[in-house]
Amino acid sequence: MSHRIAAKITGVAGYVPPKVLTNADLEKMVATNDEWIRTRTGIRERHIADSGTASSHLATEAAKALLAQTNTDPADIEMIILASVTPDMMFPATACLVQDRIGAKKAWGFDLSAACSGFAYALTVGAQFVGSGAHKKVLVIGSDKMSSILDYTDRATCILFGDGAGAVLLESAAGNEGIIDFEHDVDGSGGQFLYMPGGGSLHPATTETVERKMHYVHQEGSQVFKYAARRMAEMSTKLLERNGFTKDDLALLVPHQANLRIIRAAQERLGVDDSKVLVNIDRYANTTAGTIPLGLCDAVKQGRLQKGDLVLIVTVGAGYTTGGVLLRWAY
Ligand code: UT7
Repeated sequence: MSHRIAAKITGVAGYVPPKVLTNADLEKMVATNDEWIRTRTGIRERHIADSGTASSHLATEAAKALLAQTNTDPADIEMIILASVTPDMMFPATACLVQDRIGAKKAWGFDLSAACSGFAYALTVGAQFVGSGAHKKVLVIGSDKMSSILDYTDRATCILFGDGAGAVLLESAAGNEGIIDFEHDVDGSGGQFLYMPGGGSLHPATTETVERKMHYVHQEGSQVFKYAARRMAEMSTKLLERNGFTKDDLALLVPHQANLRIIRAAQERLGVDDSKVLVNIDRYANTTAGTIPLGLCDAVKQGRLQKGDLVLIVTVGAGYTTGGVLLRWAY
């Protein structure tokens, strides 16, 4: 069954911190090399925030740019949903910090944790409040400072991620515009393959958790790789077919950016060629909740999105979480 929501994206903005960490820089830090990283992942460089800059700051920059671009008075924002696995603190929610900094005095909000699928999940949740008529303007943000949870002595993980944030404004839609359908699922048996064990209620921070490197990303890359490639293709096919579309109707596929080979494997299964796939992993690496809005932002800047275009967002992340949102671009 299809799930149309009378909500549309009316603006998108992104922010990455200015400092760039190239593959050549990483060669000086761990036993890796530019060629391995480029050919195995598609990444050339990533942006890294300074200490003292947190996910809330990245999110605030993206949100402020979005408000300016869409000429929106912050007081008109009624809700903020912020997806992140690197909140500034366990509490208060990073959404609350952003609400204060942008002056969205009438907004309520919360953080949502679904790792790399976080933005797609948040988009769907936020859209429900617009579609139901409860709210007129909802801000959905994906923001992660992945560098804060990476072990820069572990070459298998530290090369994969970067820092960044993106935000969209959701407003009500009429007729055929906006969100056509969404689908999300969880396979909790995959939790063991990508996780950060320390800092939660199971393993609160102690000297031992620090010594055992439990506050860093742990990943079994090849397990995640296979799952992600298969599920991105399955999710995309399901959403297109269920709504009577073929790959030819698609104007742009905006996939989560974890590995260029995952993206290519998924698009090959779908039969979509490169011109219809947004790729920016070369410049940003995997920014977790940031990848989808940063991808939409680049697509707009590159003139690759026109009003009425059929767009498919698809994500796979830790959990495992999988998400897909099919929509008509509205501006
Ligand atoms: O959003 C969800 C989050 N994460 C992902 O989606 C990541 C999914 N997984 C991946 O992207 C890939 O599995 C990786 C990029 C992490 C790894 O690529 P791979 O082709 O699966 O390589 P591998 O783990 O099988 O490692 C192959 C070799 C190993 O050496 P040996 O055992 O063959 O001698 C690794 O030790 O490459 C070695 N290696 C490296 N060499 C140079 C692993 N990392 C590096 C590195 N530089 N950075």
